[in-house]
Amino acid sequence: MSLLGTLLGGGKAPHLRDARASDSVDLARIHAASFHRGWGADEFERLLAERAAHAHVICDGPDGAILGFVLSHVVVPEGEILTIAITPRARGKGLSGKLLSHHLGRLAARGVTTSHLEVEAGNTAALALYRRLGYGETGRRKAYYQTADGTCDAVVMRRDF
Ligand SMILES: CC(C)(COP(=O)(O)OP(=O)(O)OC[C@H]1O[C@@H](n2cnc3c(N)ncnc32)[C@H](O)[C@@H]1OP(=O)(O)O)[C@@H](O)C(=O)NCCC(=O)NCCS
Repeated sequence: MSLLGTLLGGGKAPHLRDARASDSVDLARIHAASFHRGWGADEFERLLAERAAHAHVICDGPDGAILGFVLSHVVVPEGEILTIAITPRARGKGLSGKLLSHHLGRLAARGVTTSHLEVEAGNTAALALYRRLGYGETGRRKAYYQTADGTCDAVVMRRDF
């Protein structure tokens, strides 16, 4: 099934797998399209080599293009989501929910019992995703993020498995 087919909702389900070092260029491209400060391919390669790094990708079929990824830093029993992103043209199709469900299931299988994250207070899509996946707000950091217009609060969230 082509990317177009997947995006139109037909055909086979998106494929989920562990991220590998050879994905670094794709992850950097999606990250740069998603955040003010992109991380380079070398940063992803270094992060993925760390023992504490656990990352998964969602692809357009088993041999297809990477459509999104999620990366957590794990020190059992705690995990922290460092970043999650879906490539812009594949957003709004529910892929992030499938990706994050898969990721949390794999973390739980490794003994993680709590997942933490921080998200910009104005990031409606991300907040909706996290709430749907069972995260609850535990605090706020005032003016934590620099944005194009100034600063933005960080919402601190956690999910207990
Ligand atoms: C956040 C992100 C990963 C969501 O991925 P996605 O696959 O497009 O998300 P979904 O299609 O599953 O939608 C998630 C929720 O956001 C909602 N949503 C999607 N786009 C939206 C928008 N532009 N405005 C408001 N809500 C939106 C969806 O309706 C859904 O809500 P629901 O669960 O109540 O139905 C994606 O938008 C992204 O990569 N953003 C840039 C990177 C980013 O902000 N990452 C999070 C950092 S903490």
